[in-house]
Amino acid sequence: MSHSIAHRFGRAAASYDAHSAPQRHAAQRLADLIAAESLPAHPRVLEIGCGTGHLTVALAEALLRRAASAEFFCSDIAPAMVAACRARLPQPHYLVMDGERPAVRGGFDIVCANLAAQWFHDLPGTLARLSELLAPGGLLAISTLGAESFGEWKSVHAALGLRAGTLPFVTTTALRNAFPGGELVIDEEVFVDRADAALELPRRLRAIGATRPVPGHRPLTAGQLRRVLRALGPAPTLSYQLLYGRFRKATA
Ligand SMILES: C[S@@+](CC[C@H](N)C(=O)[O-])C[C@H]1O[C@@H](n2cnc3c(N)ncnc32)[C@H](O)[C@@H]1O
Repeated sequence: MSHSIAHRFGRAAASYDAHSAPQRHAAQRLADLIAAESLPAHPRVLEIGCGTGHLTVALAEALLRRAASAEFFCSDIAPAMVAACRARLPQPHYLVMDGERPAVRGGFDIVCANLAAQWFHDLPGTLARLSELLAPGGLLAISTLGAESFGEWKSVHAALGLRAGTLPFVTTTALRNAFPGGELVIDEEVFVDRADAALELPRRLRAIGATRPVPGHRPLTAGQLRRVLRALGPAPTLSYQLLYGRFRKATA
C-alpha cells in the first residue's frame, strides 16, 4: 500500500510544482505557525513527506526571519520526491523513509509534515512514533486535510447517485484524539481552489499524485465523469479544509 503511494507521488514529482497551490498555501501557513513558537536558536528539524520542498523552503525562510538557522533532515517515501527536493535545495540531509516507520535517531526540536499525514494508514500510531523522536520540549507540527474537504465534488456525486472516490479525511475531533496526550493546539481554515474548467480539478490532483481512491472504489465510466463535470459547472471550485496540529512534548 505504502509502495503504491510512493509510486503515485514519484510519478508526479516533475508536474507537482505547477499544480500545487493548496499545498504551497498550507506550507506557508504551517511554516509561519512553527516559526511563531518558542524554539531554540539552531533547531534540528525532521521533515516527513517533504515532496518537492514547499514546507522546507517556507520554514527555512520563516526561521531565518527570526534569526534562527536550522539543520534540516528531509524525508519522503518517494525517491523521486527526495531527488526533486534535493535539486531545489541542496543544503538539508536527505533520506528516503516511510514516515509511519521512522528509522532515525531522535532528539529533534521540530518534527513536521505538510499535507502528508492524510496518506498515513495509522495516524495515532504514527504521531506517537514521531513524538518519540522529539527532544524534551520539542514541537510536532503537521497539516492535514479535514473531513469537509472536497465538499463540492462529493455533493455533485451524491446528487447524481454516484460514489466519490475521495478518502475519508479526519474530523477536527479525530485529529485532536490522534495526537498523544499533552499540550496541543489545532487550527483550521478553508482554502478554495478555483478552475476555469471542471476537468482541470481532477487533472490537478493527478498532476500532484494525489490519486489513491478509497479502497474498493470503482472508477467512473466516461459517461458518468461527463455528468459530474457538467454538474460542477464552468467555473468550479474545490474546497480544502486544512487542519494544523501543533503538539509540544513535555520538558521532563
Ligand atoms: C501532497 S504531498 C505534500 C508534499 C510537501 N510536503 C508539500 O508541502 O508540498 C504528500 C507527500 O507525502 C509523501 N508521503 C505520503 N505518505 C508518506 C509516508 N508514509 N511517509 C513519507 N512520505 C509520505 C508523498 O510521497 C508526497 O511527497
